[in-house]
Amino acid sequence: MKDKLIIFDTTLRDGEQSPGASMTRDEKVRIAKALERMKVDVIEAGFPAASVGDFEAVQAVANAVKDRTVCGLARALDKDIDRAGEALKGANSSRIHTFIATSPIHMQMKLKMEPDQVIEYAVRAVKRARQYTDNIEFSPEDAGRSEEDFLCRILEAVIDAGASTLNIPDTVGYSVPHQFGGMIANLINRIPNSDKAVFSVHCHNDLGLAVANSLSAVMNGARQVECTINGLGERAGNASLEEVVMAVRTRQDVFPCATELDTTEILTCSKLVSSITGFPVQPNKAIVGANAFAHESGIHQDGVLKNPETYEIMKAEDVGWSANRMVLGKHSGRNAFKSRMTELGYEFNSEEELNDTFFQFKQLADKKHEIFDEDLQALISEVSFGAEDEHIKLIALKVCSETGETPLATVTLRVNDEEMTGSSEGSGAVDASLKAIESLVKSDATLGLYSVNSLTNGTDAQGDVTVRLEKAGRIVNGQGADTDIVIASAKAYINALSKLQMPEQRKHPQKGNV
Ligand code: KIV
Ligand code: ZN
Repeated sequence: MKDKLIIFDTTLRDGEQSPGASMTRDEKVRIAKALERMKVDVIEAGFPAASVGDFEAVQAVANAVKDRTVCGLARALDKDIDRAGEALKGANSSRIHTFIATSPIHMQMKLKMEPDQVIEYAVRAVKRARQYTDNIEFSPEDAGRSEEDFLCRILEAVIDAGASTLNIPDTVGYSVPHQFGGMIANLINRIPNSDKAVFSVHCHNDLGLAVANSLSAVMNGARQVECTINGLGERAGNASLEEVVMAVRTRQDVFPCATELDTTEILTCSKLVSSITGFPVQPNKAIVGANAFAHESGIHQDGVLKNPETYEIMKAEDVGWSANRMVLGKHSGRNAFKSRMTELGYEFNSEEELNDTFFQFKQLADKKHEIFDEDLQALISEVSFGAEDEHIKLIALKVCSETGETPLATVTLRVNDEEMTGSSEGSGAVDASLKAIESLVKSDATLGLYSVNSLTNGTDAQGDVTVRLEKAGRIVNGQGADTDIVIASAKAYINALSKLQMPEQRKHPQKGNV
């Protein structure tokens, strides 16, 4: 029997630290349900002390996820630990992840603390967290640049205090594989009580080495890897879950351990995260990129036709590429619709909401006949953006676009209960529509990104549009989906404008002086 490799997903916490990737509570619940279907072992749902919104999001994930461990991040401070403990109360299985920096530069410049004081804080935090759960993870932040002797001291102390997982973060993505792997081996060998804890790694991708460093650590004794869907995360991101999991699965001849994930859920999860955050997946991205299993050269195509193994090391279906399975259609009933929506993590708040959403589903099914999970996810995005947050509503859009003429769009919006109509020309139908909306709303925001992806196959597929807007240092992403991409674009722009009007009051876990 091989050892189990624990997969700890931090898309909802570190992933959310990517500029512009912030998620609402309901979006987090949907991603958490997708991670649960994939059988990720631990889901880090957020940093409860960051804001009331973050607290409520962790609480909602803790209540929604039934058979996976839900984790909350906390600095080594009583108030953070108590917030995390509170937020996780509803979880069937919970973990508190507490951390404090241990590198000389962080201790001197950021914390302004002596090493012994840092150990005191760490031990105290672990003991306090034990009042809420016996599943405690401790991270010495910036371990990749910390002194090994000091790491041995602090890690031995926190194991004695009750930490059962020791996570070694390469916070700034500075490590290289042989050295990082060597550090993990040394820590396991040198810490006298190391057998009482699982060693974990959390690698950032600043040098493009996050997956390589994580796998090197696994070869040297780490049995938990922290990673994110699509490699999302602070700056250049974290180790990508799909790459770590598929490397370990594909090279079972090399790795001494295995994960228990259902890898066929990987693609759906990747698309969901991409659509919610508005971070597109590059076509040549390993495992989940559109070209990851496409063979272009004639020689390769010929080989694959004769025997797929000539050029394929994994089966596309093993990561969900045969997906786009039709789940519902024009004739599906209300119950089938409701139960699939529930499986995808959406709970209806009332009969009325179910009826309205079912009506929208029927309208979509009339237009495109076959409805896939991706279509339902887009519908959920639309309905779960609460009516109370929807300050701007699209009432009507008319666009005239013809060869040789300048496109003209006329849009009617309801802005804070007042209906208004405006028109604008543009270089194309989308440009004219967004300018017409802007002529009414006058947000003055800067457009940082506009992207369209097809949700499924075929020309009747819904276009999934992401619009990123920036104003006064704040970045928001808006999403919209429709079989007409001009309407999808207008919806996405309006969604981003509504988000810009929502209050923001979050703290960053790794800023501040502890
Ligand atoms: O990168 C990092 O050090 C972190 C810690 C909080 C684990 O995200
Ligand atoms: Zn991190």
